[in-house]
Amino acid sequence: MHTYLVTGAAGFIGYHVSQALLKRGDAVVGVDNLNAYYDVALKRARLQQLEPYQNFKFYAVDINNHAELLNRCRTHQVDHVCHLAAQAGVRYSLENPMAYSQSNLSGFLSVLELVRVIRPVNFVFASSSSVYGNPSKLPFNEADPVHEPASLYAATKRAGELMAFTYHQLYGIHVTGLRLFTVYGAWGRPDMAPYKFTQNIYRGETVELFNFGNMKRDFTYIDDVMGGILASLDKVLEFEIINLGNHSPIALRDFVACIEQLLGRKADIRQLPMQPGDVCETCADLDKARRLLGYQPKIDIKTGMAHFVEWYLDYNGLLKPGLG
Ligand SMILES: NC(=O)c1ccc[n+]([C@@H]2O[C@H](COP(=O)([O-])OP(=O)(O)OC[C@H]3O[C@@H](n4cnc5c(N)ncnc54)[C@H](O)[C@@H]3O)[C@@H](O)[C@H]2O)c1
Repeated sequence: MHTYLVTGAAGFIGYHVSQALLKRGDAVVGVDNLNAYYDVALKRARLQQLEPYQNFKFYAVDINNHAELLNRCRTHQVDHVCHLAAQAGVRYSLENPMAYSQSNLSGFLSVLELVRVIRPVNFVFASSSSVYGNPSKLPFNEADPVHEPASLYAATKRAGELMAFTYHQLYGIHVTGLRLFTVYGAWGRPDMAPYKFTQNIYRGETVELFNFGNMKRDFTYIDDVMGGILASLDKVLEFEIINLGNHSPIALRDFVACIEQLLGRKADIRQLPMQPGDVCETCADLDKARRLLGYQPKIDIKTGMAHFVEWYLDYNGLLKPGLG
């Protein structure tokens, strides 16, 4: 049995990773500042699912609070670190850039300093497909240049990769940075397209499609991503950056059609131009993930969105009696 520090444990991916680790018998020390970027009730509801596990300890703490992190890690003898806490969201980084420097730059460094002191067996952190920007070449390969981030969010995620590399070089820490591609599934984030589109179509509210619906996203189901994260926690590498995606991008207008079918309702679509900070298309090259982690995504978008919609209706109390 190992003891994992999971930062962002009340978040979408942190919750799933914590649960998977607990289910296989490991111990998890979860931390999260429970900020109000989106509905805190959803973060608390995720934590409620984790509370029954005896090996789960949760602390409402900001990752910038280095002393408390260190104290908790020492008390619980943490031996692996999975760093998922971050200010997520591309568009919000135009509205509130300082939140990104706080969590993704200072906060990231605070976690690296923790790792330098406690020297875990392995340090795994979440980066993002957004670091690739808007290149002319698809799919995105880890060896591609990543010098032109389209948003501040992307710039801070790239900065995390660079800081982690420096700590690996200076202190010999084993690091794997995972570039995640639009993760979706049960307990997903209300600020992301799967949740927003499902909610708006269900309620008969307008669905805004940017770049006139011509954007494509490599949506990746949470169980596939979780498998990749667990594999990277188990496999101690020197320093690697690895894509975790689906290699199967879908146009947003087809994505909307998929949700329409699942809900049996038509979307009221509003076509809009491209938004600043956005990228047109994402698609992961998975060769490296396959080679180093044995990663192979299995869930196609129809199956994954069927699971998501079922969860969405259930979580929001919208299942008709007799169907739930
Ligand atoms: N969901 C995706 O599609 C996606 C894609 C690419 C990368 N990522 C990355 O994966 C990680 C997890 O994303 P998610 O979708 O679960 O997001 P999320 O917002 O649901 O989870 C992040 C959690 O971190 C917490 N947090 C933020 N700043 C903190 C701080 N300073 N101290 C302590 N806790 C803090 C938040 O309260 C939240 O619960 C993030 O690093 C994100 O950048 C996610």
